[in-house]
Amino acid sequence: MSYSASSEFTDLVSAKLALVEDELGRQAGAETPFVTEAANHIISAGGKRFRPLLVVLCSQFGDEVRDADLVRAAVVMELTHVASLYHDDVMDEASKRRGAPSANLRWGNSVAIMVGDYLFSKASLAVAELGVDFVKLQAQTFSRLVQGQIAETRGPSEGEDPLAHYLKVVADKTGSLIAASAVFGAMVSHASVETVTALEQFGEDIGEVFQLADDLIDITSTVTGKTPGTDLRENVPTLPTLLLRASDDPADAELKGMLDADLSDDAVLADVLEQLRANHVIEEARVEIQRRADRARTHLAPLPDGDAKQALAALCDEVVSRSS
Ligand code: IPE
Ligand code: IPE
Ligand code: MG
Ligand code: MG
Repeated sequence: MSYSASSEFTDLVSAKLALVEDELGRQAGAETPFVTEAANHIISAGGKRFRPLLVVLCSQFGDEVRDADLVRAAVVMELTHVASLYHDDVMDEASKRRGAPSANLRWGNSVAIMVGDYLFSKASLAVAELGVDFVKLQAQTFSRLVQGQIAETRGPSEGEDPLAHYLKVVADKTGSLIAASAVFGAMVSHASVETVTALEQFGEDIGEVFQLADDLIDITSTVTGKTPGTDLRENVPTLPTLLLRASDDPADAELKGMLDADLSDDAVLADVLEQLRANHVIEEARVEIQRRADRARTHLAPLPDGDAKQALAALCDEVVSRSS
């Protein structure tokens, strides 16, 4: 957390996240050493733990919350996320995740898919302990997430606006789980309906910004723990490439054409990446991401002032600055 929160508050958040970390390690345990290793592979490789952080911060707006419930809610969200990463790397044919070889690269697609399913089953078991409202929300969320992934795979239908399609994909595949993390935090602390609604809207918006920024980072950064240009190579649309495709500036014509070229060769991909990084669409994408982050922040207005609200507001800035 980059703002000046009280040290008491940052200590509290760190302590809760440490409990989440312990439990995540335990959840990866399976009947055989192989499944334990494969399930632990991406969990122990690190990651930002953005969804557990949101659960913890959003749990500060209700009554006193029991650690067991808080940890369980955060673990359910992170396990669901990690399960989706195992599957996503198969879909995207990614070879790197969290700085480690992806599970599909290490053990093949079948194992990666089954380990994703295994982690999802662990999330289902854990969420059942929280009660039926949590089970419902997690199921609805996963349903949206997979439909977002399917929609991305299928692409826009005939006549559909590609940008509108992309934004819906982003909301469904990523906004859904980040919004659910905010709501889980509010729900475990028995927050009021108004608070749950505000945090849900905040989570939806910041979740979209998170994915838009991540897609920009895929182009602009070389230190993500993933292979830069993966989306470009797989022809997965992102805000900058959609803006480029929509541009009628003749100076963009050549680069536009290259987006659809065969980018399997590393040197060709590097060349397209370099040109894209120097193109005006990068700044345009950044401006749009900033605008959406500012909108996310407005949903915090009804919440009581304090460390937790400040931390959520600071997240809006951090999500944007990651892509700068
Ligand atoms: C990766 O999520 C997939 C997206 C939704 C962009 P994160 O960026 O949260 O990945 P980790 O958990 O930090 O590895
Ligand atoms: C990930 O989308 C979304 C889910 C896992 C549901 P991406 O494919 O854009 O994420 P990265 O870049 O591989 O992390
Ligand atoms: Mg991917
Ligand atoms: Mg993907």
